[in-house]
Amino acid sequence: MSIEITANDAVATRGHWSNRWAFILVMAGSAVGLGNIWRFPYMTGSNGGSAFVLVYLACLLAVGFSLLVAEIMLGRRARANSVTSFARVAHESGAHPLWGKVGWLSIVSVFCIFSFYTVVAGWVMEYTMRAAVGFAGITAEQASSGFKTLLSSPDILIFWHTVFVLMTGGVVIFGVTKGIERANCFMMPALFLILVSMLAYTMFSADLPAAFNFMFRFDIEKINQSVILSALGQAFFTLSVGNGTMIVYGSYLKSETAIPRTSLYVVAADTLIAIMAGLVIFAIVFAQGLKPDFGPGLLLGTLPLAFSTMPGGHLLGFSFFILVVFAAWTSSISMLEPLAALLIERFQFSRKKAVISICFCVWLVGIAACLSFNHWQDVTLFGLGAFDLLDSLSGKILMPLSGFLIAIFCGWIVKREVVRSELRLGDTAYFAWEWTIRIIAPIAILAIGINALQ
Ligand code: PFF
Repeated sequence: MSIEITANDAVATRGHWSNRWAFILVMAGSAVGLGNIWRFPYMTGSNGGSAFVLVYLACLLAVGFSLLVAEIMLGRRARANSVTSFARVAHESGAHPLWGKVGWLSIVSVFCIFSFYTVVAGWVMEYTMRAAVGFAGITAEQASSGFKTLLSSPDILIFWHTVFVLMTGGVVIFGVTKGIERANCFMMPALFLILVSMLAYTMFSADLPAAFNFMFRFDIEKINQSVILSALGQAFFTLSVGNGTMIVYGSYLKSETAIPRTSLYVVAADTLIAIMAGLVIFAIVFAQGLKPDFGPGLLLGTLPLAFSTMPGGHLLGFSFFILVVFAAWTSSISMLEPLAALLIERFQFSRKKAVISICFCVWLVGIAACLSFNHWQDVTLFGLGAFDLLDSLSGKILMPLSGFLIAIFCGWIVKREVVRSELRLGDTAYFAWEWTIRIIAPIAILAIGINALQ
C-alpha cells in the first residue's frame, strides 16, 4: 500500500464532488434519514418534548459537529476508503500500527446498519404504496394492527427489502459524481420542498402552535439522565458518524473546501429538517387528538390514522411517505459507498462487482432480519433476533466504539500540524474544536456506551 499522498493526484484518479454545494447536499443526504423523520420525532415525543430538543441541539453542536469535522478531515487527508485512511494518517503521524486497524470497526458497523436499515426502509416503501391507495376509513385499531400484520408477513418484508437494496445499488453503481451526487442533488431539494409544503399545510389545517409549544417550550424539570443519553445517541446516529461514511465522503472533497464551515452547514440542514419533520408530525398528531408519546410506532402506527381523517389527507400522506423514502434512500446510498470504496481500493474490485457483491451480502443478512419478526422469531443470539442483533451491535457497540477511537485518534494521536493544515482554523476556533474532540466527545461517548450496555 502506498503511503505517500499527493492530494490533487488522488482527486484526479478517484471520484470527487463537483463543488462545495454538491458536497453539502450529499453529506446532508447521508445525515438526513429515518433518524430525522422516524427516530427524532418519536424520541422527542417519548422524552418530554422540548427538554429533549434542547439537549439534543447542545449535543449536536458540541459533540456531533466536532466528530463530523474529524471524520471529514481524516478522509480528505488520506483520500481513501475508511480503512486505508486510518492506516495512512496513523503512519504519517508515526502512530502505533494498531491505529491503522480502527477503520475495520466502522466497516463492520456500517455493514450491520445497512442490513437492517434497508428492512426499515422496506416498511416505509410498503406504507408509501398503502398511502397511494389512501388510508380512508381506517380505524385506530386497524392503524396499529396494520403494522403488526406487516411484520408477520415475511414475503412482503423480503420483497420491499429486495427492492430497496436494488434501488441503493442502482445508484452507487454509477459512481461518485454520476450516481451518488446526481441522486442527492435531485432528492434532497425535492425532500426539502415536500417538507416545506407540508409545513405550510399544517399551518392552516393542523395544530402547529401545539406542536411548537411541545417542541420548544423549555421545561428544565424534564431534563434527566435518560433524556441526555437519548439525545446524545440521537446526535451520533443522525450525523452518521462512527461508520466511515463521512470519512469516505470527505475523501472525495477538494482541498480548497473549508471543512469546519461546510460541516456546520450540514449540521444546520440536518437539524432544520429534523425540526421541520417533528413540527409537521406533531401538528398532525395534536390536531387529531392523538398522543405524542407513541414510541417507535409513531410514524407507521399513528400517522395513517391522522391522514385518514384530515382534509387532503390522501395527497398529504402520499407526499409524506415519498419524503421518507427519499430520506432513507440517500442515507442507504451513503452506507453502501464506504463498503464499495473498500473493495474497489483495497481488493481491486471493479465498482460494478463491488456493488453487486455487497448488495448480495446485505440482501442475505437483511432476509434474516426480515425473518426474525416471524418464522425465525425463536432464533436468537444473546437473546436477540437478527434484526435487534444488527441494531444493537452497531448502535450500542460498534458505532460508539468507533466514534470514541476516532475522537482519541484525531485529538491525541494525529500530529497537530496535520490537523491544523486540514482544518485551517483560527487559534480560538481550533482550541475549541481540539478540546471538544480530546475531552468532551470521548467522555460523552463513554457515557452513552456504558448506559447502552446496562
Ligand atoms: N444518519 C442517518 C439517519 O439519520 O437516518 C443514518 C445513518 C446513515 C447512519 C449513514 C449511519 C450511516 F453510516
